[in-house]
Amino acid sequence: MTTAQLGGHAALVQQLHERGLLDDTWRAVWDAVPREPFIPARAWRQDADHCALLTSPERLALIHSDEPVVIQLDDGTEGGPGIATSSNSQPSMVAHSLRLLGVENGARVLEIGTASGYVAALLSERLGAELVFSVELDPALAARAKAALHAAGYRPNLCCGDGEEGWPEAAPFDAVIVTCALRHIPRAYVDQVQPGGIIVAPLAREFWSGTLVQLTVQCDGTATGRFHGDASYMPMRAHRAVEGAPVDSRTARTRRAVLAMPAILHLGFALYAGTRLPGVRLWHSAGPAGTQVWVQHPDGSAATAVAGDVWEYGPCDLWAEIERTYRDYVALGSPDPDQFGLTVSADGDHMWLRSPEHVIAPTLDPLGSR
Ligand SMILES: C[S@@+](CC[C@H](N)C(=O)[O-])C[C@H]1O[C@@H](n2cnc3c(N)ncnc32)[C@H](O)[C@@H]1O
Repeated sequence: MTTAQLGGHAALVQQLHERGLLDDTWRAVWDAVPREPFIPARAWRQDADHCALLTSPERLALIHSDEPVVIQLDDGTEGGPGIATSSNSQPSMVAHSLRLLGVENGARVLEIGTASGYVAALLSERLGAELVFSVELDPALAARAKAALHAAGYRPNLCCGDGEEGWPEAAPFDAVIVTCALRHIPRAYVDQVQPGGIIVAPLAREFWSGTLVQLTVQCDGTATGRFHGDASYMPMRAHRAVEGAPVDSRTARTRRAVLAMPAILHLGFALYAGTRLPGVRLWHSAGPAGTQVWVQHPDGSAATAVAGDVWEYGPCDLWAEIERTYRDYVALGSPDPDQFGLTVSADGDHMWLRSPEHVIAPTLDPLGSR
């Protein structure tokens, strides 16, 4: 049967299989666990600038597509700005993360961010529910996921609490899968996974919007591994981005940019520059003159560039710093994202290039002194 003839959940699974995201074992698991029972009746589609409430026919079409389905806005409060705070993640991203987790029969797995319960259901089908542990911070979501899991016949170990602490009482685990974006890897995950075990987590920092990292826990209490492409996840609550200080427009100075605009938005450069320039926040938007990029540092320095023009503000020439860092990145051979890796040790996260010995050192400290 072709994907078009299959329809519904079966077509989605077939598509993931054809894209090489599911081996035969995981394909059977996905076939056995339809997505629809885990999605509440009230759900939203994430559009570019807002979340759109789904009508009944739209709901099923979205569930059977390779798109995330938003299941909560504004942490569950009514009348807020309508920001998505929980979703059933994009199926291809889930399949990719589960593949990176590399679990075998008998593995004990901790999931952070139960949300809809769908990943917990897939893991329960694959490993047996008694080996699956899942933590959700939000009480209403945790209760709903529990009901959906039980209705589907799965009884994994569920906890409503702060997943940043892992689940110490249930440790050790063979693997941890994090399904909300982190700014850094909490020490608890490394401590709670046995040596040789795997941690898969989406990371998002000030300078870049998201990538997946796969870490192997070492016998010396560190964890190390590489990045695996773009990944867009909702942030862990305590890891949400904070707005920078307002820009003082009286300090504006302008000049022509040296750096071509699309280059700066490459994930490889973002991983490199985000490490060299800690605290610098980058974001961009599409406008009539093309992509406009903004960078900002906590010391009040900021810059924006569009169509070859740059405006800089505050005490430091931040765009000049970006251009210097870009030249260093090119001198290193413009490495792709998969050439970067991360080591998590007792003194924090260390980003490296090509091998763990080549740690990337920062040029600016968080206060902007050089
Ligand atoms: C993208 S959703 C996870 C998708 C989920 N795995 C699924 O199968 O539907 C992210 C979830 O992480 C939860 N979350 C945020 N901060 C958390 C924390 N500190 N501990 C546990 N869960 C957290 C959010 O409430 C949200 O439900």
